[in-house]
Amino acid sequence: MPVSLTPCSIGDLGLDWRDIEDRPDNFQSLPVHTYLDPAVFEFELDAVFAGRWQFFAPLAKLSAPGDCVTGEVGRVPVVVVRGDDGALRGFVNACRHRGHPVVKEDACRRRLVCGYHGWTYRLDGALIAARDAESDPDFCREALSLLPVAVDQWAQCVFVNTDPDAAPLRRAHPRLETLAAEGGFDPDPERYHLHREAVIDIAANWKLWYDNGVECYHCPTLHGESFAAAFDVSPERYVAVLTDHLMNSHFAPATARDDDGDTLRSKRYCSFQLFPGCQLIQQDDLAVLARIVPTGAQSCRFIAHYLSERDADPKRVEAWIELWHRTYDEDTDAVERQQKGLWSGRVPRLRYVPAREKPALFINGLIREAYREALGEAPPAAWAALG
Ligand code: FES
Ligand SMILES: [Fe+2]
Repeated sequence: MPVSLTPCSIGDLGLDWRDIEDRPDNFQSLPVHTYLDPAVFEFELDAVFAGRWQFFAPLAKLSAPGDCVTGEVGRVPVVVVRGDDGALRGFVNACRHRGHPVVKEDACRRRLVCGYHGWTYRLDGALIAARDAESDPDFCREALSLLPVAVDQWAQCVFVNTDPDAAPLRRAHPRLETLAAEGGFDPDPERYHLHREAVIDIAANWKLWYDNGVECYHCPTLHGESFAAAFDVSPERYVAVLTDHLMNSHFAPATARDDDGDTLRSKRYCSFQLFPGCQLIQQDDLAVLARIVPTGAQSCRFIAHYLSERDADPKRVEAWIELWHRTYDEDTDAVERQQKGLWSGRVPRLRYVPAREKPALFINGLIREAYREALGEAPPAAWAALG
């Protein structure tokens, strides 16, 4: 379970137990200050993002011995490395000397050499050289290996859990494979190759971007000339299954339409999501593997890796990516404006439409559940006091 570096009580977060109660008829968001308050953001890094499996990188970026991918998982800097023995390992990307990142950017390395004072680690994390430190009789290299995080792999994806003792991904999410298959998601790691990636910095709380990425209520209004022009987004076509921190969704087959001149028309769309923040999409020529990284109370980052079918026409792949970028630009503009509305202090709560925004309500329920787990059970006296 997540370990909080910011011990706090529900009162410290400006909440009461009713705010995080498990009630299926609660169609409102958490209080709006949870989208603004740095203390809540710090709490969420531990309560929501620590100790849970999160998509980290496409497998294709870690195919050869020495391949390293860096990133943040919650508050933890992480590097995942393909070892000489072929195994994938993950480490806290902080040197055991004085905490500088050992690997500053994605690369292929024979050794992991910290750029600050040159301490050198093997690909399996063992410290093998610490300049001028060996003369110290108390210096014990063996005790100063890089600290591990848990790594697992499924489909085209590498996942990280910052808890090194975490149960493997499939044990933590026993329905992962069947639910993905039921949603039409193809786990074959050979189906795609890496095309390129996009990093989008968004001036909005991560929960707003998350809501936006799971519901399609906004598709006809916001994406009329982008996403909604290529996909049949009518509600009767949209199918979403929500269970066990997982979500699959697709448009029913009748959506298949032929390309119309310059307009792309989708023949296949399925998405698969793993809480928190992992969004995997397969459509036509493309797969989009993406994750949400919270970067501040009022900011987040969306990292999307585009993979293309091995025999796809590169021009068509680029056309699809262009369509996704237009769609993401529209989403970014919407949530940044939304954030300004919340920042005004004049918006009391967000009120969802259950008929069209079940996935957003589902995600909000999981966030409340994470809050409850981190804060412990409400003392009976607290409920009594609330009446
Ligand atoms: S912090 Fe890495 S060698 Fe000093
Ligand atoms: Fe959108």
